[in-house]
Amino acid sequence: MKILVTGGAGYIGSHTCVELLNAGHEIVVVDNLSNSSPESLRWVRKLTGKDFEFYQIDLLNRQDLEIVFKQNNIEAVIHFAGLKSVGESVRLPLQYYHNNITGTLILCELMQKYAVQRIVFSSSATVYGMSEQVPINENSPLGATNAYGRTKLMIEEIMRDLYVSDPTWSIALLRYFNPIGAHGSGRLGESPNGTPNNLMPFITQVAIGRLKELKIHGNDYPTLDGTGVRDYIHVVDLALGHVKALEKIMASTGVEAYNLGTGQGYSVLEMVSTFERITGQQIPYTIADRRPGDIGICFSDPNKAERELGWIAQRGIDEMCLDSWRWQSHNPNGFQKEEEEITV
Ligand code: NAD
Ligand code: WQD
Repeated sequence: MKILVTGGAGYIGSHTCVELLNAGHEIVVVDNLSNSSPESLRWVRKLTGKDFEFYQIDLLNRQDLEIVFKQNNIEAVIHFAGLKSVGESVRLPLQYYHNNITGTLILCELMQKYAVQRIVFSSSATVYGMSEQVPINENSPLGATNAYGRTKLMIEEIMRDLYVSDPTWSIALLRYFNPIGAHGSGRLGESPNGTPNNLMPFITQVAIGRLKELKIHGNDYPTLDGTGVRDYIHVVDLALGHVKALEKIMASTGVEAYNLGTGQGYSVLEMVSTFERITGQQIPYTIADRRPGDIGICFSDPNKAERELGWIAQRGIDEMCLDSWRWQSHNPNGFQKEEEEITV
């Protein structure tokens, strides 16, 4: 019996593949590599010493995806595959709705057809919209401010309807806060195309010299130092959260949302000074205007995941910065370029 991991070549997917294999699960990976490289999967194999099948397939291609269900005895799905850039989703809403929603519909239809009724879905704290009542728990008001966020909200609703239609489904909706960090080997990490939108890859690219300086988007928020506060979570902790959620959906039916965060908020300036202290690198910055659509403060109440999944984030902000930097400094161009061999 195998776990199908969609989007398994991506940033969070590849780290989760490592933790699934380390926990003794068998996996099969589907990814169209639209935002990732097969290098990540090569490293998953190398780091775990375990092999698995990879299908370079688009979820939108029902025939191709059905072959995966026919050829493998799948018992559950972890569904990462999707487009994730907020700004791009504002420019290309139809592409986002089509890829994320139609892709999920086709996946769920095939799951139904092959009687695989267990799924862990990558949702996001973005489903809490402009909510600034912190900490945010799973009952906080929902809302989205862009097409990307709406795809997450809509997919959550689709999955709830699926459960209503057939209570033998078992569904975990994991709402990630701000994933950063990388595998401790420095071999897996986030490899964004073009200029990064997110804070940590921007900081590491300034540190490596690819970008000149960080622009801090606003220092007039009602926070301690005026800069935006977020709940950063180490990607390995996040990956371990998926292993716990998988155990939960294997043991019971239902549909539940869980926040995956640390419950701690850090400001942009705190992130910069922690990164500088931990890595010894200087991060020049300037203060710029607020980024449209940003909120001042966002951090989770992660207690439901602790209570019901037995999961709690273990890695602190120092480790997140150190691991992000190890990844970036070993791979100045992400997965794009050849790099010298170093011992794992
Ligand atoms: P990622 O882009 O690194 O990984 C997503 C993977 O899905 C990529 O490898 C991409 O090639 C693949 N993919 C996209 N569309 C596909 C399709 N139609 N068919 C097959 N493969 C497809 O992103 P990530 O950061 O690893 O995020 C994984 C999931 O978690 C996404 O659904 C994202 O929306 C969600 N999420 C991410 C964050 C974050 O900050 N990284 C936060 C909250 C939620
Ligand atoms: C963090 C803080 C910025 C870049 C986004 C998505 C969200 C989720 C995670 C997928 C904010 C500030 C950033 C920069 C800055 N993704 N910042 N200069 O906005 O909390 O969440 O990624 O689901 O949907 O919206 O994360 O890393 O972009 O920003 O000052 O160059 O860093 O203003 O306060 P965000 P982020």
